[in-house]
Amino acid sequence: MQDLFAHDFKDISKNIKKRALITFVLLIKLGGSVITRKKENEYVIERDILKRLAYEIKESGKRAIVVHGAGPFGHRKVTELLLKNQNEKNKIVEIQQSTRILNTEVLKIFNDAELNPISFPPYSLFKFSSGKPVTKNFDFLNCYFKEGFTPVVYGDICFDPENEYHICSGDESMFELAKFFRPKRAIFVADVDGIFDRNPENEKAKLLNQVSNDSKISFRNERVDVTGGMEGKFKTMIKISKFCEVWIINGKVKHRLLKTINGKRVRGTEIFYEEKGRTR
Ligand SMILES: Nc1ncnc2c1ncn2[C@@H]1O[C@H](COP(=O)(O)OP(=O)(O)OP(=O)(O)O)[C@@H](O)[C@H]1O
Ligand SMILES: [Mg+2]
Repeated sequence: MQDLFAHDFKDISKNIKKRALITFVLLIKLGGSVITRKKENEYVIERDILKRLAYEIKESGKRAIVVHGAGPFGHRKVTELLLKNQNEKNKIVEIQQSTRILNTEVLKIFNDAELNPISFPPYSLFKFSSGKPVTKNFDFLNCYFKEGFTPVVYGDICFDPENEYHICSGDESMFELAKFFRPKRAIFVADVDGIFDRNPENEKAKLLNQVSNDSKISFRNERVDVTGGMEGKFKTMIKISKFCEVWIINGKVKHRLLKTINGKRVRGTEIFYEEKGRTR
């Protein structure tokens, strides 16, 4: 392994941004809502959906950094453990063990699809202090990406010396990765067609083809999401849209991910940043 990357380690720091821009193509977030049974709050992985999404990424022939959400393996675990009178470090370890179960399955399925996945938990990329990523390091992730691996980051709990812990959502990692790598496109894959003007379970809800920081949207409060549900995701997607194209699409419908990767318009929502009447 060391031989394979020996030359990279010498010059990567000074050249990393330039090289990342040349090779990097896409950022894809596979939401916990689509790869697990999140609505039912069950520790169940939607393996068939995950397999299809992995093959759609493979079939596109494009290179991507993939982030996946935690679903109940994170959100439910956090809710259960925070009620327990346990020391913080034990809680962190137990929650990390839970999210790793999901991550290991994602890696197996990605490996079967010949995507050469390699796992990067957020605590291997960021050091948090008072809820902020004060140190960020993408050197190793970038090395593996350049050598043909698919880096897989995921939502997880991290140690934070000031706040004891920080829950780093997959969406937060998407923001940091987009800020650093400036991909062409960031694609959020969820269990809904995109962003609706109100709770999508309301029969009057309308899908919004485009939304910006000026859009007025009503979000349903997620019972089983400790990182702000769709409202939190919307705020993060708006921040990401300053760096690249941002789309949210439904991963339960066949080929929507494949088409979006290939730049084709499917039913979904584009998120963009509007600056005092001037659009991106
Ligand atoms: N206005 C809205 N438009 C679209 N979806 C909404 C809206 N309000 C609430 N939602 C809900 O947001 C959910 C998706 O967000 P959620 O954070 O649960 O998913 P995720 O990010 O895929 O999961 P994870 O955080 O585990 O990765 C959908 O299931 C949908 O019901
Ligand atoms: Mg979420």
